[in-house]
Amino acid sequence: MATNITFHAGSVDVQERVDLLKQRGVTIWLTGLSASGKSTIACALEQHLLHRHKFTYRLDGDNVRFGLNKDLGFDEKSRVENIRRIGEVSKLFADAACVTVTAFISPYIADRKVARELHEKANLGFIEVFVDAPLSVVEQRDPKGLYKKARAGEIKDFTGVSAPYEAPESPEIHIRTDECDVTGAVQKIVEYLTQHGYIS
Ligand code: PPS
Repeated sequence: MATNITFHAGSVDVQERVDLLKQRGVTIWLTGLSASGKSTIACALEQHLLHRHKFTYRLDGDNVRFGLNKDLGFDEKSRVENIRRIGEVSKLFADAACVTVTAFISPYIADRKVARELHEKANLGFIEVFVDAPLSVVEQRDPKGLYKKARAGEIKDFTGVSAPYEAPESPEIHIRTDECDVTGAVQKIVEYLTQHGYIS
């Protein structure tokens, strides 16, 4: 724990940055089971926004675990720390006026709440998107063969099989990926961003 540190506020506040860059920072927080479609939607959304010349960046669970979070596993403590770090990182991106798209299972309600509060306290937008597909469907998809391995006992603490997933109670956006394709999902998120003044 660091001591004797002082926060330097800087001379540009959130609103001044928004006015100068003509973009409001926001984190679009995708949460859902493995293979629910988070990464696919995040990639398509990032591409859509960039093609509209929005300053956008995507943070993805698998990818971040190759670098920043390579010291973390999948036990409860590690997942809490994973999401704590991503909450902080996405807040920094949003503070830089970036439309940030995060794609993490983020299985615990309490951790997502912490990430939301971090943003809201800093006057930054936070949009929780529940990327929802029933376990039977994601298990059928199983693009990486992970559910099969988890059922065979080869992977422990696997979300939905041997580790919990706490679904959002009131997400800003709810997407059923067994009923809606990726284009429809992106459209739904973009409509929300437009209606709430995050993009024009
Ligand atoms: S978490 O729960 O938010 O900390 O997980 P996250 O950082 O998003 O990482 C999820 C990806 O890691 C792979 N993987 C596992 N997922 C769940 N449980 C276990 N035990 C596990 N082991 C490896 C898997 O590829 C997840 O990617 P997605 O894109 O969600 O399928």
